[in-house]
Amino acid sequence: MANNLTMLSDEVRSRIAAHRWYHTIDLGGGIVTAGADDTPQRLARLGLPVSLGGLSVLDVGAWDGFFSFECERRGAARVLATDYYSWHGPGWGSKTGFELARKALGSHVEDLDIDVMDLSPDRVGTFDIVLFLGVLYHLRHPLLALERVASVTSGTLILETVVDLVGLERPAAAFYPGRELNNDPTNWWGPNPPAVVGMLESVGFQNARMITHLPGWFYRAGRAGWHHLKGKNRLALAFRQDRAVFHASKSKGHTSTTQYG
Ligand SMILES: C[S@@+](CC[C@H](N)C(=O)[O-])C[C@H]1O[C@@H](n2cnc3c(N)ncnc32)[C@H](O)[C@@H]1O
Repeated sequence: MANNLTMLSDEVRSRIAAHRWYHTIDLGGGIVTAGADDTPQRLARLGLPVSLGGLSVLDVGAWDGFFSFECERRGAARVLATDYYSWHGPGWGSKTGFELARKALGSHVEDLDIDVMDLSPDRVGTFDIVLFLGVLYHLRHPLLALERVASVTSGTLILETVVDLVGLERPAAAFYPGRELNNDPTNWWGPNPPAVVGMLESVGFQNARMITHLPGWFYRAGRAGWHHLKGKNRLALAFRQDRAVFHASKSKGHTSTTQYG
């Protein structure tokens, strides 16, 4: 991926500086977008294969596109970034960040404005790797969404989501009809880890497993107190909440010799 930054006009540079970024993206030439999200830190937790040579990747809910560009950097033959809610839907942001970053990086990542509920092999094809990061808990109908995601996954799904009711062994999900999670009305469901695994298996994935090591109760208590002080959540609720990454595949044993980083 050639770095285009030196060839960019002053106008594009000032648009990059003025944009309200969600992702923190290193565009090269000393320019790092001022993202609200510490995206490189989240990348380190995903278990994304170090090399994606020759593979096709679908990034569902890509927003500014950090993970799509990273997959391209890791050698993916084709990357399709999709979104709806942030790009042209009712919420949060726009597609400007994705377009600016793609230009600055000289990237060939493709894009499609499509709601997760409209994904199908007919509309987008099927992909070796599907990223479904930070989207599941924003959806009113998560199991339906996972059915759509499963239909376009031919290899491995990497899912990152809020998890709630951590520690409860029985599959269960917390429901947020209002602003219960992070004071954000766009959050709907926080499944616990056994529920996520069960949901993935019920839509046809095999080898579904959580790859995140969730911290112990002592750390959780301290973090819950900190979130509570910041006004993000009620203490007792925050104690059982976390974020976790799951891998699942459409063929048994798919991930055997892959290196993750
Ligand atoms: C918290 S952001 C996560 C962005 C990115 N995947 C990441 O992990 O950094 C949630 C993303 O889900 C997208 N989203 C929410 N509802 C969606 C829907 N129904 N269809 C497609 N994307 C959706 C939003 O537009 C936004 O880009």
